[in-house]
Amino acid sequence: MSTNKVIVIGAGTMGRGIAQVFAQSSYEVFLHDAVPAALDSAVTSIHKMLDRAVEKGRMEADDVAATKERLHTVDATAKLTPCDLVIEAATEKPDIKIAILQEVQKFVADGGILATNTSSISITQLAAQTEKPDRFIGMHFFNPVPLMKLVEVVKGLQTSDETVAQTIAIAETVGKTPVKCNDHPGFVSNRVLMPMINEAIFTLQDGVAEPDAIDTIMKLGMNHPMGPLALADLIGLDVCLFILEVLHRDLGEDRYRPCPLLRKMVQAGRMGRKTKHGFYSYD
Ligand code: CAA
Repeated sequence: MSTNKVIVIGAGTMGRGIAQVFAQSSYEVFLHDAVPAALDSAVTSIHKMLDRAVEKGRMEADDVAATKERLHTVDATAKLTPCDLVIEAATEKPDIKIAILQEVQKFVADGGILATNTSSISITQLAAQTEKPDRFIGMHFFNPVPLMKLVEVVKGLQTSDETVAQTIAIAETVGKTPVKCNDHPGFVSNRVLMPMINEAIFTLQDGVAEPDAIDTIMKLGMNHPMGPLALADLIGLDVCLFILEVLHRDLGEDRYRPCPLLRKMVQAGRMGRKTKHGFYSYD
């Protein structure tokens, strides 16, 4: 399969990052979101990042102009036409994802791939709701997508080996390092990452140290690029809570129970960077 067109569903943080990465790598990108304001905001932020790349001498002005031209926004699914790759990056709610996948699967060309960027919803469960489960796969990107090299390629029970191989090849064409794993709660990334973030929140709740001290200890002591609380703010505290709930429910072990302080923060609407308030304030 050779593809040069991709549909990205969802213009939030992840969707816009995925759209940017594909447009930068010579793909024609059709970014859809049902909320027009989300599309406008995505285009503004992608253009800002691209202009910054020119200022910093990381990209040529001509390449940036061509990248911008390859990025198309689509405000209604009726305006989409079939592509070889459709990536769903909508909100992390199973019912919403299933409804979107069932709607957009008709825009996957024959022999094409339908991918989801879910961080923790079962690929096997989502695949079962589609017409071609063997052509369904997890393509898990990391935030901030343009900067992070990894794509976790998640094979559902029904995903064919050919779909896995093609997805790996596509991820490589956009300069990412794909790593394959099997569908299991939290995959590899969040099964390992979320308990660390949760433990950092327990550490804060227990009054062991202030947020900045916890993060500095983990940054300087473990050589992490950012501390776990700052990272939770970047990911979104609602997303962290959702993933921990999936791990807790599906693996059935107490060690994954979400810290009450995390739950309280989410109840208070303090979701991290996106609401300008999490473990830190962002003005
Ligand atoms: N979005 C876009 N660009 C960003 C950014 C963001 N969120 N954060 C920083 N940048 C840009 C900066 O603007 C800066 O660009 P310029 O060179 O043009 O000025 C550049 O990146 C470097 O920024 P900084 O010097 O401020 O910071 P840094 O060198 O520490 O790098 C970072 C920033 C890449 C975010 C780094 O801190 C890092 O790697 N953090 C860890 C991120 C991580 O673990 N992400 C995975 C989260 S898990 C996930 O996404 C999946 C899931 O399922 C939950």
